[in-house]
Amino acid sequence: MGKTTVVAFLADALHKAGYTVIAIDADPDSNLVACLGYPNPEKIRPLVELHDLVHERTGVKPGTTGGLFRLNPKVDDLPAKYSVNVNGVRVLVAGAVRKGGSGCYCPENALVRALIAHLLLEKNTALVLDMEAGVEHLGRGTIKAVNRLLIVVEPAPRSIETAARIKKMAADIGLKWVAVIGNRVRSQHDREYLLRSLTGFDFAGFIPYDEALPQAEIAGKSVVTASAAVRDAASAIVDYLKKPSPN
Ligand SMILES: Nc1ncnc2c1ncn2[C@@H]1O[C@H](COP(=O)(O)OP(=O)(O)OP(=O)(O)O)[C@@H](O)[C@H]1O
Ligand SMILES: [Mg+2]
Repeated sequence: MGKTTVVAFLADALHKAGYTVIAIDADPDSNLVACLGYPNPEKIRPLVELHDLVHERTGVKPGTTGGLFRLNPKVDDLPAKYSVNVNGVRVLVAGAVRKGGSGCYCPENALVRALIAHLLLEKNTALVLDMEAGVEHLGRGTIKAVNRLLIVVEPAPRSIETAARIKKMAADIGLKWVAVIGNRVRSQHDREYLLRSLTGFDFAGFIPYDEALPQAEIAGKSVVTASAAVRDAASAIVDYLKKPSPN
């Protein structure tokens, strides 16, 4: 819990560290732009809902199954056309197609995957991806360009189980660079609990619990400006990410 919040803080911290940042919201309940302080989040339509665009680029109409997609749909113009600049961070709301049945093989997801693959290979750009607890947006061809898969974990048994499951999924597709971020950490006890429960995991850092975050969210305000403590934690994580990947 806290993926979108952490992505927002990391994108902001990377921008402040001087990177050109693109953040992709690939979550079904897109709220990344709102977290970053975009005033009219409801006005942005996720890419997967732009059916004409998906059809034009992939050659397959959304809603149909079994079609043959273009393997390499044109995506290089999409970031400029469809991203919004939110306080220095470019955000693309990709959206996600809910899983189930042939969900993963629909043209919408094919387009989003191609877009992610394209942006991962872009030089001098830090790409931050807010994904549901899974790795389905990453294909075998693109994972080489991924520096880290960051798993956001909170000090709770179910979250620990999820982290283990994601690490396994990552290993299955050959993604080795996995690290956890302990989020919603309220005490030294919480921190030790996470370290003890996740032995064998690399820790990218810890983010404190701050009541100001949900409050800002409820008030419809920027979450990233609401907590200096969380901003400091995110900037320490950026320092961690600058270090070369282990082995
Ligand atoms: N460090 C924190 N301190 C306090 N509250 C937090 C913290 N991180 C996240 N939250 C709160 O927890 C709630 C869930 O966070 P968020 O939406 O980022 O999670 P998510 O993993 O993206 O959820 P979803 O699975 O719905 O996409 C929000 O109300 C957010 O403000
Ligand atoms: Mg989210």
